[in-house]
Amino acid sequence: MVQSIENKVALLTGGGGGIGRAVAEKLAQKKVDLVLAGGNNIEKLQITAKIVEKYSRCLVLPGDLTDREFRKNAVKKAVSAFGKVDILINNAGVAQNCSFEDISEKEFDRIMDINSKAPFFLTQELLPFLRKSDQATVINIASVVAHAGYPMQSVYTASKHALLGWTKAFAREYYRENIRIHAICPGGVFTDMVKLSRPDLTPEGMIMPEDIADVVLFFLENRGNAVIDEISIHRLNKEPFA
Ligand SMILES: NC(=O)c1ccc[n+]([C@@H]2O[C@H](COP(=O)([O-])OP(=O)(O)OC[C@H]3O[C@@H](n4cnc5c(N)ncnc54)[C@H](OP(=O)(O)O)[C@@H]3O)[C@@H](O)[C@H]2O)c1
Repeated sequence: MVQSIENKVALLTGGGGGIGRAVAEKLAQKKVDLVLAGGNNIEKLQITAKIVEKYSRCLVLPGDLTDREFRKNAVKKAVSAFGKVDILINNAGVAQNCSFEDISEKEFDRIMDINSKAPFFLTQELLPFLRKSDQATVINIASVVAHAGYPMQSVYTASKHALLGWTKAFAREYYRENIRIHAICPGGVFTDMVKLSRPDLTPEGMIMPEDIADVVLFFLENRGNAVIDEISIHRLNKEPFA
């Protein structure tokens, strides 16, 4: 049965990016209030906020998600602005286009921190508030590289495997408390990121950010009794996992 998400509050990371903006718009259209948490590009966040504000309320909190204090304050500010948070979408991420032998320890830590550690601890920070919601849902935007491995993406691949790993553990640890968690594992989505990580891909046949937003909405509106750990999304016209 489809469950309304009207008047719920969602905290979304990476709201200034391609997938984040599409998700923000889709949820706002359903009258979900949005907290756009994290990001350095304030202009991009403001563009998303303007779109959201056509339909619902929006709080913009620029900053670095790898900073523990920022994460703590973002949760505090979200709750003080809207009184609650029902939905967390861990979408912010960084790609890599660099050989295994050229990756420095610093770069390894940066990619792992943004793609796996920050969403882990942001989820932990939000847990007390998710417990209070009757539709608590966490959605992690992983990638096909949570399963596969591509050249020039060794750390990105490791970070998304890690993200998917803790998502599965969390699903089993918290399902009795009615807190859902899902990982979405897309192939190439037509955003700025893919131009960096897969310059060989062309826009034709690429997944669109709106396709991912549709899947996010499906998870949020269709809770039922099924627990879905993850869903993989591949492009139509290329080999699987492209
Ligand atoms: N595009 C694809 O082909 C594809 C495929 C599979 C999975 N994904 C995943 O989808 C998610 C969204 O990617 P996208 O394609 O929409 O890329 P994007 O347009 O580059 O967006 C990435 C977002 O993450 C934010 N971000 C990066 N580092 C951050 C940090 N330390 N603190 C706070 N925010 C940070 C960026 O903010 P600023 O730019 O303002 O710093 C940006 O808004 C990522 O997790 C990515 O791994 C993408």
